[in-house]
Amino acid sequence: MRAHGLLDVWRLVWLLCLVLATGLAQVSQVCPTHNDISPCYCSVKKSGLDIVCEITDMQHISKAMSVLKGRPNLVIFYLRLRHNNLPKLQGYVFLGLDIRHLTIHNSSLAVLEESSLSSIGSALTQLDLSQNSLSSVPSPALRDLHHLLILNLNRNKIAAIHNKAFEGLDTLEILTLYENKISSIEPDAFKGLDNRRLKRLNLGGNELARIPTQALNSLELLKKLELQENHISTIEEGDFEGLKALDSLGLAHNHLREVPARVFSHLTQLNSLELDGNQITHVDPNAFIGLEENLQYLRLGDNNLHSVPSDALRRLHRLRHLDLRANNITVLPEDAFTGYGDSITFLNLQKNMIKILPPLVFENLNSLETLNLQNNKLPHISEEVTESIVDTLRHIDITDNPLICDCDLRWYSTWLGNLRDKDDEMMSKKRTVCTMVSEHREYSVQNIPLDRMGCVGKNAGKYSSSATGCKMYVDATLPVFVLVAVLM
Ligand SMILES: *[C@@H]1O[C@H](CO)[C@@H](O)[C@H](O)[C@H]1NC(C)=O
Ligand SMILES: *[C@@H]1O[C@H](CO)[C@@H](O)[C@H](O)[C@H]1NC(C)=O
Repeated sequence: MRAHGLLDVWRLVWLLCLVLATGLAQVSQVCPTHNDISPCYCSVKKSGLDIVCEITDMQHISKAMSVLKGRPNLVIFYLRLRHNNLPKLQGYVFLGLDIRHLTIHNSSLAVLEESSLSSIGSALTQLDLSQNSLSSVPSPALRDLHHLLILNLNRNKIAAIHNKAFEGLDTLEILTLYENKISSIEPDAFKGLDNRRLKRLNLGGNELARIPTQALNSLELLKKLELQENHISTIEEGDFEGLKALDSLGLAHNHLREVPARVFSHLTQLNSLELDGNQITHVDPNAFIGLEENLQYLRLGDNNLHSVPSDALRRLHRLRHLDLRANNITVLPEDAFTGYGDSITFLNLQKNMIKILPPLVFENLNSLETLNLQNNKLPHISEEVTESIVDTLRHIDITDNPLICDCDLRWYSTWLGNLRDKDDEMMSKKRTVCTMVSEHREYSVQNIPLDRMGCVGKNAGKYSSSATGCKMYVDATLPVFVLVAVLM
């Protein structure tokens, strides 16, 4: 019985393949001659024709379309109209054509007549109207596109999204409106989209001053929301309350000054949060409530933080990637990463003002693979500091620090040596140097002359003298070096 069942299944599969193959064979596609559709070009792709018309006008394009209309069963997989002069798309221009992906890009398009696209609505899956002159969403022209998956309206001049602007696009999964002039989104702007289909929404590069909470509320299965490069200056609890499935939220390059308590509390599925490039000085200890179970990527770089917001971060026990670059962090307390550091694999502290690393500051970073301390004010990075992380570390950048060559730095060459044994991964090409105060010259950190420095310790073997002694020697000579540097 079972064998028979299996045989039946295989027969069915075979039959399906046959049907599909004949189906494809029927639409074996042939391009018209270039002369017939000039100035457009045609090439044959696996799934149909690819037609490109550039630097021309509606008259020439209409002529090419009428040649294509004369051929039955053509599948135009791509129709790309770029850099043309097409201020207005007339009704029925594509009537009778089977177009799957339509691009009208950089073509001064300002008006789409109501019936310009309706005739291709049963086959069109992607529509790209980017870099044109649209001043509003051309809703009437979009209403019959019941198979559309992707709509790209980037780089137009849309200032507002009115209620039900996308009504009829009930299969839409990706909507991008990047770099328009949007300052207002009406509460029912996204009503009429099937709210269980839309997965990605890009509202970046606009003029929004606040989160359009009401409009977003219905997008209950949205995965990715991009709001970067707007003018948002405050966010508050409840702003994201409807976005229960959100996986990724981009708020980079806005004007945020603080991250208040509970503001993301509804985003329990959130995996990635970008807050870089704001003016954030304060992160409330309860700012990240709700993100405990899923947040892995957090970007807080290019802000104005004066310390690691450890109290807020402590609840993020899944955090892997923490970017705090280019802030104004001067001091790292010893407990900066306690309570949540275990899961961190990537930590970026570059371009801060850190002067001292307390001996146990990285003690909890048991999974750390990448550490960036480039461009800080560190004269010393002691062996104790790195002891707990050298085993897992694969990349470290300590360049652009005022490092003094002292015995404490010998962990670096040991680590580098071990790394080469373990795998072939190349270290950053940049030269990591320290200054040898007594000789007024620089050495590559991996080649400091430990023997001449009288170093002793765990990794030095034959050398003997305490690391503290060495540090004292350096500290004592530091003013001399600074004096010399100033005089030079
Ligand atoms: C846009 O199209 C015009 C021709 O209409 C062309 O001169 C210009 O270079 C194009 N711009 C871009 C950015 O491609
Ligand atoms: C960085 O912090 C110091 C004080 O800790 C302050 O004087 C300085 O203005 C801050 N820098 C910036 C760019 O805010």
